[in-house]
Amino acid sequence: MRSGQNWYAGPGRALRGVLEMPGDKSISHRAVMLAALADGMSRIDGFLEGEDTRATAKIFGQMDVRIETPSPSTRIVHGVGVDGLKAPDGALDCGNSGTGMRLLAGLLAGQAFDSILTGDASLGKRPMRRVTEPLARMGARVETGSGGTPPLRIHGGQTLAGCAHVLEVASAQVKSALLLAGLYARGETSVVEPRPTRDYTERMLSAFGVEVAFSPGFARLRGGQRLRAKDIHVPADFSSAAFFLVAASIVPGSDLTLRQVGLNPRRTGLLHVLRHMGADIVEENASDCDGEPVADLRVRYAPLHGIEVPVALVPDMIDEFPALFVAATCADGPTVVQGASELRVKESDRIAAMAEGLRTLGVRVDEAPDGAVIHPGPLGGGTVESRDDHRIAMAFAVAAQRASGEVHIRDVANVATSFPGFDALARSAGCFLE
Ligand code: S3P
Repeated sequence: MRSGQNWYAGPGRALRGVLEMPGDKSISHRAVMLAALADGMSRIDGFLEGEDTRATAKIFGQMDVRIETPSPSTRIVHGVGVDGLKAPDGALDCGNSGTGMRLLAGLLAGQAFDSILTGDASLGKRPMRRVTEPLARMGARVETGSGGTPPLRIHGGQTLAGCAHVLEVASAQVKSALLLAGLYARGETSVVEPRPTRDYTERMLSAFGVEVAFSPGFARLRGGQRLRAKDIHVPADFSSAAFFLVAASIVPGSDLTLRQVGLNPRRTGLLHVLRHMGADIVEENASDCDGEPVADLRVRYAPLHGIEVPVALVPDMIDEFPALFVAATCADGPTVVQGASELRVKESDRIAAMAEGLRTLGVRVDEAPDGAVIHPGPLGGGTVESRDDHRIAMAFAVAAQRASGEVHIRDVANVATSFPGFDALARSAGCFLE
């Protein structure tokens, strides 16, 4: 755990102004990966300058892919072709990133060389058998540490065979790993999901010229295809915007606009849920960013109601629950979250982390194995732990804006994984955070 950096936060002023969010994390990871595998040079604009996505770019550098950074948030990737990666000089460090590690596990399973994927203490606790087991069915040899966690030792030189996968977990990371391995497999690889998840890998493979059939909850491709270089514009990350959507919704007098945020329907569950709770969020200047819907989001303070979060929306807002828990504390009745046991295996156990921190601030939260009931109540001050999880740290920074006393948030350096500059941006909008 990286310790030592803490925040003192809130109560703050009304949030006002026009803010730019950083680039989408999921899309930035995939953009580097596919551009590296393509024939030719691709330019990526709007790339997230976060620790997670930079770790992925560095890994491709270790496999002899030349990546230039002509200016912040831009990468020029000199693709080496699907068969052009070189054996790395050492272990490949994915940092904090489950997306990096799981997608790379699939991609590297099809290479001629061996590789080792490692990560930080938080990633070192996350379940990897969900990718290694279906990969093994394709003929891949990927060993986990004891307990099914990282590091991953990938034995190259295997002949992979396409496979029809039916997944038990709704996970875009697992689906993507299998599709990337499928590029190297004989025949067809298909994936059926229990509920539809984000389809960026499918969309981007198709933009790079790969024939891939996909519809919500389903994807299929044939191995042996090549990728054509393609310039990519990464939209602003809805998951980063989520913290400001909640902050402005709960602090009286707020009126904030978030510019050109990505609104892929598999990401915007929180938007539906907040609106259902009574939030005042309007989409303006809708347009299209490389096939992804984007719009300005204008959010104004509004009284919120407690609701039962529809289970069908859980995958569409899987990263937004820490922010939702905070919104729920300011509602006029309890909010019920169910069917979200995946939250327990994210960068931290997010149900436990939010329940513990909110209780410290004086709010009642009843925990269940797959969710929680959050009871509204006045937020007080206190010391809360981020558990080295970026989204927990940012969620409590938002909660603090409505607290009656100061909130001390411990170990916030991890925010740089997904949202470097969050604190300065929040201050510029009116938050108290130092
Ligand atoms: C991601 C998928 C989700 C999400 C993560 C990013 C992706 O994880 O929580 O932040 O980019 O594919 P799961 O696949 O584990 O649900």
